[in-house]
Amino acid sequence: TKRTIVSLPGDGIGRVVLDETKRILFAAGFDAEYVEADIGWEFWCKEGKPLPQRTLDLIEKYKIGLFGAITSKPKDDAENELKPDLKGKGLVYSSPIVGLRQYFNLDICIRPCRTYKGNPLNFIRRGPGGTIEEPMVDVAIFRQNTEGLYGGVEWSNPDNTVYAALTSHPKFIKNFGAVPRKELSVSTRIFTHTGTSRILMAAFNYARQNGYKSVTVCEKPNVIRETSGMMFKLAKEIQKSDYPDIELWNTNIDAQMMWLTKNPENYGVIVAGNMFGDIVSDAFAGLIGGLGFACSAQMSDDGIAVFEPTHGSAPKYANFKKSIVNPIAMVESACMMLDYIGEDKISSKIRKAIAEVVMEAKVQTYDMMKLPGSENVLDQGAASTKEMADAIIAKL
Ligand code: NAI
Ligand code: MG
Repeated sequence: TKRTIVSLPGDGIGRVVLDETKRILFAAGFDAEYVEADIGWEFWCKEGKPLPQRTLDLIEKYKIGLFGAITSKPKDDAENELKPDLKGKGLVYSSPIVGLRQYFNLDICIRPCRTYKGNPLNFIRRGPGGTIEEPMVDVAIFRQNTEGLYGGVEWSNPDNTVYAALTSHPKFIKNFGAVPRKELSVSTRIFTHTGTSRILMAAFNYARQNGYKSVTVCEKPNVIRETSGMMFKLAKEIQKSDYPDIELWNTNIDAQMMWLTKNPENYGVIVAGNMFGDIVSDAFAGLIGGLGFACSAQMSDDGIAVFEPTHGSAPKYANFKKSIVNPIAMVESACMMLDYIGEDKISSKIRKAIAEVVMEAKVQTYDMMKLPGSENVLDQGAASTKEMADAIIAKL
């Protein structure tokens, strides 16, 4: 049966990577109908809403979204940042992708990072005696996507009630003394038991289903006791009762950042709160080729899922006559969608085709070719977005 997918191109390079991805999906035999939905800066400028209700309705109806990228705020568009007609209501542009996460409670974010053999961007390290080694990275980062430090509960110059609550905490006076209200900016890090259990269980489940032997909780429980500590405690309980076959490891975010440049091949599934998950997933993405290769999925507990590359709208490259950005991050995100809806035969075919193209090293986008010190990427004979997609299709 034909699937209906909500297609959300967004801004900048979002459209081209999404269009090329749809071509690849078609060539691989994925039979789908796409309904296009409006999202992004363009719709903020036109109608004062970067995430119109009609877009939310389409996602609600069809459940599955493929999303390109949005611009949070163009550097040179101060004029549109506050819509004249909305001024006074205090409405400022807010990222529609964050809005989407909150509206549908897309609290599970998955970011797999796997090395493609032959990718010139792969991380290399020195082994004993100065030998060069190229470790194969194969991790899936599970990031809690709605809570924690990005939950938006924050104040500058908090009101008296909040101030009283803060200053009544014994550590407050001990560590900060009698700080006046106006001196304070506070961002909270809220973890709920429900949200934390959900991301942990999703991680354990994924580990079991995909043959990973360990789940690593990457937080800082020795210092951030109430949130990181709670997450690790819950992880121990869940592992003990439901996943005795999976090992549970615990790393601190700072140490993890060091270890992943030394032995990234040691890690399987990593799970973390919102900010640490954001950080650790970008770091791992760097080891496998960066933004051109970094894919993600975000899902709710009631069947809504949106798949997107982790990169943004790359305005620097958006208006080139011929698009030169790498579509692989978007294609990989679409493969996650295929896995999610049970079309894993098609996703395997596509991943195999990408692997062959990368291995052959004949067709490479500019990001895979850029030489140190070279400014003009177009001088290097790099493949366009379309040529990369064509190469993948040819393998299919
Ligand atoms: P960006 O991710 O859009 O681009 C940064 C740089 O990464 C580009 O200039 C380019 O050199 C490289 N790059 C990105 N995607 C690539 C691809 N597919 N192939 C090859 N190279 C690629 O980040 P930037 O420039 O900081 O942000 C631009 C806009 O995008 C901002 O408004 C930002 O807020 C927004 N953004 C949106 C995200 C989303 O839609 N989920 C995520 C990150 C940023
Ligand atoms: Mg990020």
